[in-house]
Amino acid sequence: QKVELELEAIEKGGFDHFMLKEIFEQPKSIADCLRGRLLPEEALIQLGGIHNNLSKLAKAKRIVFVACGTSWHAGLVGEYLFEELARINVEVEYASEFRYRNPIIKEGDFIIAISQSGETADTMAALELAKSKGAIILGVCNVVGSSISRITDEGVYTHAGPEIGVASTKAFTAQVTVLTLMALATAKAKGTITDDVFRRIIFELDAIPAKVAEILKKSEEIKDISKLFTFAQNFIFLGRGLNFPVALEGALKLKEISYIHAEGYPAAEMKHGPIALIDEDMPVVFIATKDSSYEKVVSNIQEVKARKGRVIAIVSEGDVDVKKMVDFAIEIPNTHEILQPLLTAIPLQLLSYYIAVLRGRNVDQPRNLAKSVTVE
Ligand code: G6P
Repeated sequence: QKVELELEAIEKGGFDHFMLKEIFEQPKSIADCLRGRLLPEEALIQLGGIHNNLSKLAKAKRIVFVACGTSWHAGLVGEYLFEELARINVEVEYASEFRYRNPIIKEGDFIIAISQSGETADTMAALELAKSKGAIILGVCNVVGSSISRITDEGVYTHAGPEIGVASTKAFTAQVTVLTLMALATAKAKGTITDDVFRRIIFELDAIPAKVAEILKKSEEIKDISKLFTFAQNFIFLGRGLNFPVALEGALKLKEISYIHAEGYPAAEMKHGPIALIDEDMPVVFIATKDSSYEKVVSNIQEVKARKGRVIAIVSEGDVDVKKMVDFAIEIPNTHEILQPLLTAIPLQLLSYYIAVLRGRNVDQPRNLAKSVTVE
């Protein structure tokens, strides 16, 4: 028993929990994911794992992402990326729903499974169904040699290293990194991106690990904010565009490990329901970074403040407008708009982690949850 405990302490590398260790590993896990694939000097992206299908992917009429949980949120980010950069029609499906429908699959459709473990039963079954209907199936998996990576035609590993904490953190940012690389490579092959924009994005992508490290330096500040919200009963997370899936992921993280009821919504959808919940006891987390929907998010924040909601906002470095309006602002470095989820996800992971620890929860093994769900 004692030996086991000591071994675990060594594995945690000085961190109190695997989850915190994995959050802090992200500068490295994202860099590992980019290594050998992103070649900024040559203005090149090389993805050996989908080499044989890249030209077909560039001609695809439709991509369907199938996934569960956090991986499904990564799929939603992928939807924005592939639509925006490669102009391909994308659908994102819960694997458990997709597999029990009679999905329409046409020649040239790509079904892409996203799965950390590569063993999720529903995701596996969804892929098998798609394969039987003649789709080209690809995988974005973390675990090398996993079942999903073995049945897919091709795929791109996330290379985030083993993830022990049940709540996914570094696997999520690695999935988003892979989807960004795939969307950029597809856009380049298809000619839907100019050389100039391509170059600019890949230089920014190369700088992401260092910017994640910058955000991690704010962990004490985020811990202090968490102390004030430890006993909240509910939380709302709002974001728009690429940051809408990040809002969903922020809410999922919080409910998984702290057992606080949390909902994620697209910020503009707030007025169709969640606004009724807002009063002085309702904390609302806004992702309000400088992007094309910034002004709109600012007015959504005003709506919440007018109803006395308490607002925590993730803002861009140098922001002044939002900072004046909200109760707490967490500044993060600027980056290209399409890369923002890789940064905005980080403070939300830390917020959930500290709130859960302060509530005395078992953050690495939350009740009723499993790291990988191999039965339906
Ligand atoms: C479980 C885990 C989640 C994970 C989901 C999908 O619910 O607790 O963290 O996102 O399964 O798992 P996968 O391995 O397919 O990504």
